[in-house]
Amino acid sequence: MRKHIVAGNWKMNKTFQEADDLVSGIMDEMEKTTLDSNTQVVICPPFPYLEMVSDYGDDSYFMVGAQNVSDQESGAYTGEVSAAMLESMDIDYCIVGHSERRAYYHETDEIVARKVDQLLKYGIKPIVCCGEVLEEREAGRQFDVVKRQITDGLFHLTAEQFGEVVIAYEPVWAIGTGKTATPEQAQEIHAFIRGLIVEKYGKEVADETSILYGGSCKPGNAKELFANPDVDGGLIGGASLKAEDFMGIATAF
Ligand code: PGA
Repeated sequence: MRKHIVAGNWKMNKTFQEADDLVSGIMDEMEKTTLDSNTQVVICPPFPYLEMVSDYGDDSYFMVGAQNVSDQESGAYTGEVSAAMLESMDIDYCIVGHSERRAYYHETDEIVARKVDQLLKYGIKPIVCCGEVLEEREAGRQFDVVKRQITDGLFHLTAEQFGEVVIAYEPVWAIGTGKTATPEQAQEIHAFIRGLIVEKYGKEVADETSILYGGSCKPGNAKELFANPDVDGGLIGGASLKAEDFMGIATAF
C-alpha cells in the first residue's frame, strides 16, 4: 500500500527560535495523537534549521526534507546547497519544482529533471511539484501543463528510480490564496497523473506512487480532500506553521 504523506513546507518563515518552538509544538502534538500507521509526516524547514529540526526526533516521529537543492554536483556555485550536502546530514526528502521556484527563480522542467537526478544519486526522495496557474485552468489547459511538467521533469527516470519519487499536485491559484481545489478537481487531476504513470511505468509502479495535494489545505478541508482514492496526502504551506493545524491535517486520514 502506498504511503500517505503529510509534508510541511515552511517556506521562508520563522526565526531560529520560532522554528525551534514550532517543532517542539509538533512533537507535543504528536505525543497526544495517534497517527495512522501508514502516514508519514515530513517537515521541510529552511536550510539553516535542518539540523536543529532533525535533532528533535527520530524517524518514528517525522522525517526531514529540504525545500530546494542545486542541480549541480559541487564547486563554485555561491549560495547553493548540493544533494551530497543534504545526504551528509541524513535529510530524507527534498521539494523540487515548487511553483514559487518556477515563477521567481526560473526553474524549468529541465532544471527540475537535473535536481531530481542529483537527489536520487544521493538517496534523497524528491517531492516533485506540478500544477497549473489560473489562466491555464481557465483555458482548460491544466492537463496539458501537468503532463508536460511530469513528462519533462520525471519520465527520463527508470522505473526503479521513479519508485523513489513523490508527486505533489499544487494548482498555483490555490497556493496561499485560501482558495482550495474542490475534492473533485483534486481527484480528477490526481487520477490523470496516476494514469500517466501507468502508461509510462505500468500499474504496479503507479499504484505505489504517493501523489499529494497542495494549495490552502487546512484541518477543515483535509479530510474531504484525503478521502479521494488518488489523493495520498498533502504538501502544506501556511497551515504547517502552526503545530495544531499541521497535526490536524496529519491526522485527517
Ligand atoms: P499553502 O501552500 O498551503 O499555503 O497554500 C502550499 C504550498 O505551496 O506548498
